Amino acid sequence: MFGISRVVKRIEEEKSLDQISEPVSKVVSKLTDPDAIKYLLSGSWLGHQLHPMLTDLPIGAWMMASTLDMTGGKKMQPASQRLVALGILSSIPTAMTGASDWADSYGKERRVGMAHILGNVWGTAFQTLSWVARKNDRHKLGAGLSLLGLGFTGSAAYLGGHLTLDMGVGVSHAAFEQRTKKWTDVAAEEDVQEGQLIRVTANKTPVVLTRHKGELRALSATCVHAGGPLDKGRIEGDCIVCPWHHSKFRISDGSPMRGPAAANQPSWEIRAQEGRVLVKAAN
Ligand code: FES
Repeated sequence: MFGISRVVKRIEEEKSLDQISEPVSKVVSKLTDPDAIKYLLSGSWLGHQLHPMLTDLPIGAWMMASTLDMTGGKKMQPASQRLVALGILSSIPTAMTGASDWADSYGKERRVGMAHILGNVWGTAFQTLSWVARKNDRHKLGAGLSLLGLGFTGSAAYLGGHLTLDMGVGVSHAAFEQRTKKWTDVAAEEDVQEGQLIRVTANKTPVVLTRHKGELRALSATCVHAGGPLDKGRIEGDCIVCPWHHSKFRISDGSPMRGPAAANQPSWEIRAQEGRVLVKAAN
């Protein structure tokens, strides 16, 4: 195992991080709990998580500032100072979206996420000091502080990549689902009652069935966010609410109406035939 993997493993097991992350995540959860805020910060309105997209802004701006510091000479100093400022400003929505996503994680994921946050806090702090130094005509000091900040930001970005690519945080749990395109008999029609959720399997894929406003409806039963069982959730208005982190999906088409889920919950075509219920993947 390479040195960096050992460090990451150590972070995953480092229980002392829980002492910081538990109270912080409680506060963040409370602040981001209202449906509208979660919907906005998770990217449910966009159908894509916001945080990974926004991270490109501060990282890109600070990378360009350091590149100009090293190659642009004196005439590029105002431009690199503006780039440092742009990175600091764009780090605010980036941090808000990331904190909202992180508040719905537990255990090892939450510890690695906490280390990712701390790295980014230090990175942004050094960029802020850099901007102050540049503002006071101490450009060389500013350039050095920016490089130091980039070191922290880069390390934090590595942990962000580890969270997604190695630990599967943020990966749609429907990504590898094998949804059959053939009409498949899954239940007796009388078993699907108004306002109730039942779990069936269509060719090994779990599907949740309900009858909503008289219409038969079906969605994949494994929540796209982190795999929660939607059949154990509840119906609220026109949505199914996941029992794990309370994402809401519109029953008619699986659209996310509250985060942390940002992707559509796969929906299924459904029909009744001779007292039986048949489903097939909608797309
Ligand atoms: S598993 Fe997190 S909202 Fe469903």
